[in-house]
Amino acid sequence: MPGCSRAQLHYADGMCGIVGYTGRQRAVDVVVDGLKRLEYRGYDSAGVAIVADGKLDAQKRAGKLTNLTEALKAQATSADGAVFEAGTTGIGHTRWATHGAPNDLNAHPHLSEDGSIALIHNGIIENFAQLRGALERDGVFFASETDTETAAHLLAREYANAPEGQDRLSEAMRRVCRQLEGAFTLLAVHRDEPQTVVGARRNSPLVVGRGEGENFLASDVAAFIAHTREAVELGQDQVVRISPTDIVVTNFDGTPAQTREFHIDWDASAAEKDGYDYFMLKEIAEQPRAIADTLRGRLTGTGEVVLDDVHLTPAQLREIDKVFVIACGTAYHSGLVAKYAIEHWTRIPVEVELASEFRYRDPVLGPKTLCIAVSQSGETMDTIMALRHAKEQNAPVLAICNTIGSTIPRESDAVLYTRAGPEVAVASTKAFLTQIVAAYLVGLYLAQVRGVKFGDEVSAVVRELEEIPAAVQQVIEVSEPVREIAQRLKDDKQILFLGRHVGYPVALEGALKLKELAYMHAEGFAAGELKHGPISLIEEGSPVVVTVPSPKGRSVLHDKMVSNIQEVRARGAKMIIIAEEGDDVVEEYADELIRVPHVPTLLAPLVTTVPLQVLACEIASARGHDVDQPRNLAKSVTVE
Ligand code: G6P
Repeated sequence: MPGCSRAQLHYADGMCGIVGYTGRQRAVDVVVDGLKRLEYRGYDSAGVAIVADGKLDAQKRAGKLTNLTEALKAQATSADGAVFEAGTTGIGHTRWATHGAPNDLNAHPHLSEDGSIALIHNGIIENFAQLRGALERDGVFFASETDTETAAHLLAREYANAPEGQDRLSEAMRRVCRQLEGAFTLLAVHRDEPQTVVGARRNSPLVVGRGEGENFLASDVAAFIAHTREAVELGQDQVVRISPTDIVVTNFDGTPAQTREFHIDWDASAAEKDGYDYFMLKEIAEQPRAIADTLRGRLTGTGEVVLDDVHLTPAQLREIDKVFVIACGTAYHSGLVAKYAIEHWTRIPVEVELASEFRYRDPVLGPKTLCIAVSQSGETMDTIMALRHAKEQNAPVLAICNTIGSTIPRESDAVLYTRAGPEVAVASTKAFLTQIVAAYLVGLYLAQVRGVKFGDEVSAVVRELEEIPAAVQQVIEVSEPVREIAQRLKDDKQILFLGRHVGYPVALEGALKLKELAYMHAEGFAAGELKHGPISLIEEGSPVVVTVPSPKGRSVLHDKMVSNIQEVRARGAKMIIIAEEGDDVVEEYADELIRVPHVPTLLAPLVTTVPLQVLACEIASARGHDVDQPRNLAKSVTVE
């Protein structure tokens, strides 16, 4: 097949899961098992490369990982399987393509011309066209259209020029990295180095797993958690070489690098389906535990909230006159919820902004603007770039994150970790609820530092939060009616979601879940806004899901919502109403009624979101979709 010209489309890879292994076990088993745990990061194609006895062999297939495992099974019974059978060193990749259609050819690994080197990549090499042009002018043949292959050929060239010895592949990798622009994690193996995997990291995730007589590299600890819970965090612009006994980390300039060891406090079973049909259902069921864990130990005996890692002084925090929450997707919705509580408790204005929009509109930032970056993965590139922009403007950044050691907390001035445990389903559930809880804790912390709330007031709210896991558990246990409703809604073309106050972002999240999973048209609206336009979408029988505020306390919200329900019902809408136990007023308007326990107004999203998660999951399943891996999406979006 001819090499591709520079003018042709190239296919770069946005998120991707990456695994490297060297040790005593059959590498293909360890690597493929790791890829299974990372498939949520991308499922457009998968591939592995294994080295043994001076030979290197690779297999790759477009589509989900099962296509690769089928090919490997077929190969195992043929003579071609020798390297895979014997090799105890290997790398593997699962891909989420950012540009162009994925196919076998563009799947990773990519090999050097002589087949001595295999390389995998997550990210985008921005100057690849220039580098590729130079290589092609030197007569290098390209087999694919990817930016990654450029790095494979460059690595082969630098390897040939690097001094012999055990550092040779690392030195070649450092030389390559110094030529690359963009975001990348690279892993490579060489057929003459049967016990070495070399990795490089700039802006894309990579973590080392330290085993006994074996070591691992992966984009996420989930890939090696079944083998070890000891890990090493890598920084930006670092190269790592692992052998079965050593982990050597250097900066791109070759100087020794600082690293940080950490212990992973969850085990492999946390990343298994555990008898549930989908990870999503398991993760929904884990929400009571996730909330309880996120709250645990955050309050001192005197009612002070404790964050994880704060490099901001109380004096700095007292000066804050504006808060920005920056996030994407579901994390953005958690920020929209938190705005109500943080403003209410601190009296500081809060703006919630999509990370992808934030830096392009030149927001007014300075040392008195606190930016709260919310992210499950800690690796979302839009959020990383927004936080870097904030830091350049001298704004302090506080991260709310679920992934220890990931880029967002590393680059922030303060951190509060959500303790949701690994979230595997692409659609976020337990991370969302814990993000709200964490953002509330940050709000209480700010209120306290600034002297607008006393310890006993903070403790009272935390006590209310501590009641939430039981309320969520109750909603999960009685979710059978939601499943039945899902069956009745599965053939509809569109579903609208309405909410008021904190119920408005809940409506947005309910609609997002349905879009992501069921591929149905869904929109969330502020109920009061409906009459200003969206009500024209309502036809006879159109399903409308409404979360009704509590009739207790702020009953004005409740009453307004009841009149909004009447407005849409009068246009023929089918009403699916989520209301508190004991709220009898709504009964006569409900075609379907879902009951939730009473909780204080600001905490209601922690409870009312749950039936919406179940609804989206069940409608998607009834429509025959892959709930955990919806089309076109990836869990961790490491490109802008
Ligand atoms: C992706 C996921 C969403 C997630 C968003 C932000 O789009 O599919 O579920 O909400 O990224 O991810 P983060 O890891 O930053 O929370």
